[in-house]
Amino acid sequence: MSTRLPVLLLATLALGACTDHTPMDAHAAEASAAATKAPAFAPPPESAIPEGPYGDMVRLGREIFMHTRKAAPAYVGNGLACVNCHLDAGRLADSAPLWAAYGMYPQYRKKNHHVNSYGERLQGCFMYSMNGKAPPLGDKVILALETYSSWMAQGAPHGVKLEGAGYPKVSSPAKKPDYARGQAVFARDCALCHGADGQGQKVAGDYVFPPLWGPDSFNWGAGMHELDKASAFIKANMPLSRGGSLSDQDAWDVAIFMDAHERPQDPRYKGDVAATRKAFHDTPMSLYGQRVNGHLLGSEPAH
Ligand code: HEC
Ligand code: HEC
Repeated sequence: MSTRLPVLLLATLALGACTDHTPMDAHAAEASAAATKAPAFAPPPESAIPEGPYGDMVRLGREIFMHTRKAAPAYVGNGLACVNCHLDAGRLADSAPLWAAYGMYPQYRKKNHHVNSYGERLQGCFMYSMNGKAPPLGDKVILALETYSSWMAQGAPHGVKLEGAGYPKVSSPAKKPDYARGQAVFARDCALCHGADGQGQKVAGDYVFPPLWGPDSFNWGAGMHELDKASAFIKANMPLSRGGSLSDQDAWDVAIFMDAHERPQDPRYKGDVAATRKAFHDTPMSLYGQRVNGHLLGSEPAH
């Protein structure tokens, strides 16, 4: 396409600026009742990854995180990579950084009603965010991602919610989130990179800007399809390199616009949209099984 060069330049600038991002202040999520807040933690620099077999496993984990489809093809079913939603190689505060996640597991999760190991949490990312298959717990892919995460978290307190963990929740907007307003925000602040049709942009077969919906995006089971999580990610991290610049209202409006589009089916679907909604998405934060502009979401999922 004719805009390829400017787009690449923009991407380079934006990605470069990413590392300079100042973590937003600690309105970072409501610390859960059980957890106390600790002062900001800084993960070790990548230059500190050691030589030898341990360092090799850390590097493999980083490689999988950055280039998920290439490095773990058997487990990926879309065009995304882990780093697309956990910016700066999983290091950026307020972008669900790995160093803040690692010490919080094992953890009970409402999503599957039991205590999850960190490895099982990673499996979920493959099934939903990556629309793929869960690598077995003993698989090298899981071990490498665990090693990368625990290397980054070295020296961090265990079982303490760190400043910068997760995506800081955005308080409910004054006006009910609205599709049409979100469409306008999308056209103004997102389409330049993610495409007017939200399908991202590829260069030489690889996405330089990832798709926000459609067959190559996250599926209906992914956290990002929930409006509170999407608005939180977007507010803190998008437009890329300008995180924090959208108003809360814009973040919610564009989240509802993005999440009111079809995407791959929830892998737990057994043939009935209403039953799947009742079992897994019975919350105002999910549009799955809801009618938007006359279309029942989840009924014609993108393949
Ligand atoms: C489409 C965006 C997206 C992609 C791609 C993605 N994730 Fe996530 N990830 C999320 C969201 C959203 C959450 C949930 C955050 C929450 O619950 O507040 C999350 C949570 C996590 C957590 C737990 C964080 C915590 O603080 O408890 C880990 C670990 C994680 N992801 C790792 C990965 C790995 C590894 C991959 C690639 C295999 C991946 N993610 C791909 C969006 C994504
Ligand atoms: C300057 C280009 C740029 C702009 C503008 C931009 N994004 Fe992004 N966005 C990116 C890039 C690049 C990534 C992947 C980040 C990475 O891999 O480091 C991304 C990732 C994402 C993701 C997670 C991955 C996925 O495909 O689901 C979402 C959601 C997202 N952007 C939404 C938005 C929204 C909503 C807007 C407008 C408010 C926006 N972006 C504006 C470049 C941009």
